[in-house]
Amino acid sequence: MESSRAFFSFISPFWSYFIIFIIALFRLIKTLKYPHSSSTTLFRKHRLPPGPKPWPIIGSLPEMLSSKFAPKWIHQLMKNMNTEIACIKLGNVHVIPVTNPALACEFLKKQDDIFASRPTSMSSGLISRGYKTTILSLYGEQWKKMKKIVIKDLLSPAKHRWLHNKRMEEADNLVRYVYMSSQNNNEGGLVNVRIAAQHYSGNVIRKMIFNKRYFGEGREDGAPGIEEIEHVSAVFTILKYLFAFSVSDYMPCLRALDVDGHKRMSKNALSIVNKYHDPIIEQRIKQWNEGTKAETEDLLDVMISLKDANNKPLLTMHEIKSQITELMLATVDNPSNAAEWALAEMMKQPELLKKATEELDKVVGKNRLVEESDIPKLNYIKACLREAFRLHPIAPFNVPHVAMHDTVVSNYFIPKGSHVILSREELGRNPKVWEEPLKFKPERHLMDDGSDVFLTEPDLRFITFTAGKRGCPGVVLGTTLSVMLLARLIHGFTWSAPPNKPIELLQSETDPFIAHPLEAVAKLRLPKEVIYSLLD
Ligand code: HEM
Repeated sequence: MESSRAFFSFISPFWSYFIIFIIALFRLIKTLKYPHSSSTTLFRKHRLPPGPKPWPIIGSLPEMLSSKFAPKWIHQLMKNMNTEIACIKLGNVHVIPVTNPALACEFLKKQDDIFASRPTSMSSGLISRGYKTTILSLYGEQWKKMKKIVIKDLLSPAKHRWLHNKRMEEADNLVRYVYMSSQNNNEGGLVNVRIAAQHYSGNVIRKMIFNKRYFGEGREDGAPGIEEIEHVSAVFTILKYLFAFSVSDYMPCLRALDVDGHKRMSKNALSIVNKYHDPIIEQRIKQWNEGTKAETEDLLDVMISLKDANNKPLLTMHEIKSQITELMLATVDNPSNAAEWALAEMMKQPELLKKATEELDKVVGKNRLVEESDIPKLNYIKACLREAFRLHPIAPFNVPHVAMHDTVVSNYFIPKGSHVILSREELGRNPKVWEEPLKFKPERHLMDDGSDVFLTEPDLRFITFTAGKRGCPGVVLGTTLSVMLLARLIHGFTWSAPPNKPIELLQSETDPFIAHPLEAVAKLRLPKEVIYSLLD
């Protein structure tokens, strides 16, 4: 809704349609003058996936614009057509949404080599400073360079162990912050779980990269300061407008007009993030260059110290800055959203909360806090998180994959340049795959033989880290953050609904969050001695 609001506040519908009409007219004339043959042999033999009949040149952009929220429109359209794969022409682009796991595997596993690229887009170009990063870069040498660095130098098992204490400081701070909030009688002991979860994730990644929790003065009670609130909120705004069906991504000639306001929103949010990151990065590079710093203390130091074959810096300042922004984006959203939804769902079904608490008491006991070494044994907690990822993904679609050449999938022609978007929402709720798909039922993820539960889902029956070339390299870190967050909240505290305000499980109409942030009464359930040391 925000995006359509932004659109209408920028330009009236009449003018946006008029502009699109004029551009379409020009392009139609051009096309008629210089017809280009897209009818390859493949196209003659196979049809495109089913979809709405596109208007010449502009495709289905008018329908998309008049819908309140593009993802909802796409999903409804597929339901009306009773199809699990569709082709929606937006401007010049074939957009291919997919809601079936077998088809998803065809794209991301069987034909992974073909679908390993990303689209160019207004916001991804801005964030990645011209495609210098990993998630957002098109397939090619720059992506290979950055992905190798992320896997080998930033997220390797050795680096994960090296950063253990920094993560634990933030897991402890989470408990301190929730406890202090629960003691605040002005708020009736209410804890805003969304704030606690988002700031835990933000704190961990800031600590890992910049070796600090606070950009500003900081706070005694572990709560975020105004700087951190502004930072995390800007990160979420960037995520909101990333691949958010901006008109100019399908008709780049409209980019300068910013008809839906996405560019302005993304640029403003990015400038806030840069305001905090850039001075730290520039100062640190200077320190290393001047020799006033020689000890590697965090991931920023690691990035600055990387050398190429000629012993020259491997990464430019632009690459460091854009990659850091991208790592922030990659870390904050999934764990915090999954933990908030999981806790809300479990409060609605207290028997689930009881089972999770029993597991924690059995594995951890009540005389210490949850540690990362407990994670392999916390199968029920992981099952709850899997269920949250399945039922309440943070984004309606996976990051788009782009076809690098024409191909055929399940007998359908998929033209070069198509944007394949796996539906996170509908894969996880596909009734052919999941019994009672709308019910939060963690048991469905437990194995009969009691074997370990993982957050990965290689069969793509729902989306966590996906698979293939563009699969997420943050599986271990992402799992650690998600489990530590949910486990510490449940092990440390009992949770109840505020008086006269039952827990609501309503999803916002236009984004994947619970419509109102989860607020609940937390009460310490461990002996106070266990957290004494955190309160000094
Ligand atoms: C629970 C937490 C996380 C989840 C569910 C998650 C999920 C995803 C998904 C769905 C993708 C896109 C895969 C595709 O295009 O098919 C992705 C890509 C990526 N993720 Fe994660 N992620 C998580 C945490 C992290 C963390 C903590 C980091 C690093 C700090 C990270 C770094 C990346 C990178 C660099 C890519 C780009 C891969 C590429 O394009 O080659 N992720 N992640």
